[in-house]
Amino acid sequence: MNTPDMNERVTRRNLLRNLGLGVAAFTARPLNRVMAAAGEPLHQPPTEFTLPPLPYADNALEPHLDARTMEIHYGKHHQAYVNSLNAALKGHANLLSKPIEQLLKNLNDVPEKLRTPVRNFGGGHYNHVFYWNCMKANGGGEPAGDLAKAIKKKFGSVIAFKQLFSATATRHFGSGWGWLVKNRKGDLAVVSTPNQDCPLSHGQIPLLTVDVWEHAYYLHYQNRRSDFVAAWWNVVNWDAVAAEFGRQ
Ligand SMILES: [Fe+2]
Repeated sequence: MNTPDMNERVTRRNLLRNLGLGVAAFTARPLNRVMAAAGEPLHQPPTEFTLPPLPYADNALEPHLDARTMEIHYGKHHQAYVNSLNAALKGHANLLSKPIEQLLKNLNDVPEKLRTPVRNFGGGHYNHVFYWNCMKANGGGEPAGDLAKAIKKKFGSVIAFKQLFSATATRHFGSGWGWLVKNRKGDLAVVSTPNQDCPLSHGQIPLLTVDVWEHAYYLHYQNRRSDFVAAWWNVVNWDAVAAEFGRQ
């Protein structure tokens, strides 16, 4: 059943679509411009970071990711990163008006006392937006086209890639993220990052991610992270991954 909150999100998603800002817009460079508050004229510089709408309903990824987990993960955890980022950067309009991608790519340009909050809260914000857009209802299957060719060339097969990715994400010690990235040489690589660290801060380009913080799966899977990662493949949005691969 749609809640008023959900209806608002769907409405805002339709608005973005009407503006020509589809799924790719959520992961596009001017990330925080897409996140400008509803009703704010698009030509106005954003004054704070805002939580963008989920690109699907809370229950859209069931049975693999349950609605309650999505509701709390998105509405509480992700919102908290946005709130904390805005609180940390309060009074720093020059930073609040920049795309979060730009801040994370150039952490050393952020004043030292604000670097850790941007790394943690800004990373938490960016990583979650990226994560939401790596998934869709009735996702899964296999990558296609140039992305599939690149994966097979680098990892030998799609199966071998999935095994490496799953193992990397599952075995990551503590909270963090599993990623498929393009590294500095332009090669595909599977990596994990601790806490809310973002590959952008290491000169890498994110293509696909899975959140392996316990808050991403504990309600449904408890301690069985490997079961969560195995189920997560069923909601991967390969079209979005291919779009990122082709854009970079
Ligand atoms: Fe998370």
